[in-house]
Amino acid sequence: MPGVTWGDRVGIRPLRPGDAGALRRFVSDPDVAYLLFEELGGEPPSALLLGTMIFFQMLSSSPDFGIIERGGRLVGSVRLWRVSERNRSAMLTIFIGEKQAWNRGYGQDALRLALRHAFTNMGLHRVELNVFAFNERAIRCYERVGFVREGARREALFRDNRFHDILVMGVTRNEFLAREAERSTASVASEQ
Ligand SMILES: CC(C)(COP(=O)(O)OP(=O)(O)OC[C@H]1O[C@@H](n2cnc3c(N)ncnc32)[C@H](O)[C@@H]1OP(=O)(O)O)[C@@H](O)C(=O)NCCC(=O)NCCS
Repeated sequence: MPGVTWGDRVGIRPLRPGDAGALRRFVSDPDVAYLLFEELGGEPPSALLLGTMIFFQMLSSSPDFGIIERGGRLVGSVRLWRVSERNRSAMLTIFIGEKQAWNRGYGQDALRLALRHAFTNMGLHRVELNVFAFNERAIRCYERVGFVREGARREALFRDNRFHDILVMGVTRNEFLAREAERSTASVASEQ
């Protein structure tokens, strides 16, 4: 498949307008939206509008990525945004929209691919993200690839009739590359 960077389980490739229908379906799923969006409610943009947004986004220096399975099925998206050239930093957002694909290591794999891209191709120094404090699966997934908890936007989210913290997590280039090196040493050792 041209244009795909493969990891152990999934690949990432720039999103294209034809992905708009699937993306709309993913973000319309209340279980996904619950974990992803600070503001809930309201219709997601139409597939036509999403496709147009993706078209213009494709022209930017940092296109959003689709996450795809070996057979080519789109299962989610990972994006680097609010890129600061001066600070060499960006925010990251990821979701797997096909719920039966959760907990298969796809998230960790796609994160590693996106972080490799961020720290090598884009030359970034730091990537950060926000995650709801109750989203334990996501937090575990982020920690597994090297993100650390840096603080909390305390009680920033009102959901299910109570306030929740939104955690700020970040990873630097050196931390990520050191972790990747350790990982490849461990995998060589396990093959011997
Ligand atoms: C968060 C998300 C990207 C993670 O991707 P994934 O492919 O499901 O996750 P992975 O399989 O790579 O890793 C999940 C890890 O969390 C662990 N986990 C699963 N459920 C858990 C729970 N309730 N509590 C703690 N850990 C949990 C898994 O065991 C695994 O850890 P391990 O590899 O050490 O065993 C994906 O589930 C998703 O998109 N969810 C909906 C939207 C969302 O939450 N997006 C993130 C918003 S910040």
